[in-house]
Amino acid sequence: MPLRLKQDHETRFGPVDYEVYSPGRINLIGEHTDYNGGLVLPAAIDKGIHFYFSFPAGFRQFELYSENLNDRQTFSRETGPLPAENWAKYLQALIELLKKEEKIEVPGFQVSLSGNIPAGGGLSSSAALSAGFLTAINHHLSTGWTAQKMARLAQYTEHQIGARVGIMDPYAILAGKPGYFVLIDCYKNEHRLIQAHFEDYVLLLADTGITHDLADSEYNQRRAACEKTLECVRTFRKAESVSHITWSDLDVLRHKFPEVSVTETEYVLEENLRVREAVKAIGKNQWETVGQMMYLSHEGLQYKYRVSCPELDFLVKTARESGLVAGSRMMGGGFGGSTINLLKEADLKEYQEIASSAYQQEYQRIPRFFSVHPAGGATIL
Ligand code: GLA
Repeated sequence: MPLRLKQDHETRFGPVDYEVYSPGRINLIGEHTDYNGGLVLPAAIDKGIHFYFSFPAGFRQFELYSENLNDRQTFSRETGPLPAENWAKYLQALIELLKKEEKIEVPGFQVSLSGNIPAGGGLSSSAALSAGFLTAINHHLSTGWTAQKMARLAQYTEHQIGARVGIMDPYAILAGKPGYFVLIDCYKNEHRLIQAHFEDYVLLLADTGITHDLADSEYNQRRAACEKTLECVRTFRKAESVSHITWSDLDVLRHKFPEVSVTETEYVLEENLRVREAVKAIGKNQWETVGQMMYLSHEGLQYKYRVSCPELDFLVKTARESGLVAGSRMMGGGFGGSTINLLKEADLKEYQEIASSAYQQEYQRIPRFFSVHPAGGATIL
């Protein structure tokens, strides 16, 4: 695929200056903790986007071609805001952000891209897109940005467009390494690579096929609820982030501000502990423990953080009841997308059959399944 894409790019635009690869991401555990100053444990995966870039001297436009969409888009600095449904808006928002925040005028370029990240599965194809653009721009302008810096820029790009997302997705995409999870402390903006010796375990995604229209607004509401709790705690104590709130702070809060919901913050504190437990267990190859943490994470997301949906809950329940899956949970923002499942490779086929027929019976459709492996991050090839 890359070779044909390259030849097509040369025919369409001209000589290639850089080839870039940018992957999607999974998240093993640590959901909705990133924007709360907490811990997350994602990984870049072996599915991603290939880009070919040309930076012709003096070129003033941005020309994009997506092989997947068979669509060509062009804009310049003078173009007004692109409509929400136009995929080139990510690049437009990024170019504007770099101008405003970094005082960088990105020279015009032409890019062709093609990817195999399943759309709608919650694998962060939009963060992969931004990370790919940033990797090329960083290289071309020799800006010397670190993965953290580029992740921040990708995150703020996303803020221009919709949900006030955290840093997890682009950070994992930019810092990933084959065979490793990326443990990110989202308060310190630091990471540590955690090697995974899966032995006979594998990770399987099950895509509900559901996307929720209200996902962005619900996401922003949960974020606001956590910020409200922090604001209230700060009336009596200095707390750096939601993840720095203590259980005794919550006791005080319940008395002083009975109208304020604390279940979201309870969830965040518990999820941070689960991430720590999971990291310890991975270090000892105790995958059953990792799996238990995943099931507990889902319960928290379902009942306390309330970002799940019936289809996700159904798939997690089916996984648990099959007796074949060590751990299962919704992954990503929620309200649809995929579950992530940890199971023995020998049970893959049987579990997919069980889940397919149960889901088919309940929802008259079959979930899509994808096996995924922690893989390398975004890079110039
Ligand atoms: C989305 C966001 C991330 C993170 C997750 C929930 O994927 O892009 O920043 O908040 O939801 O963990």
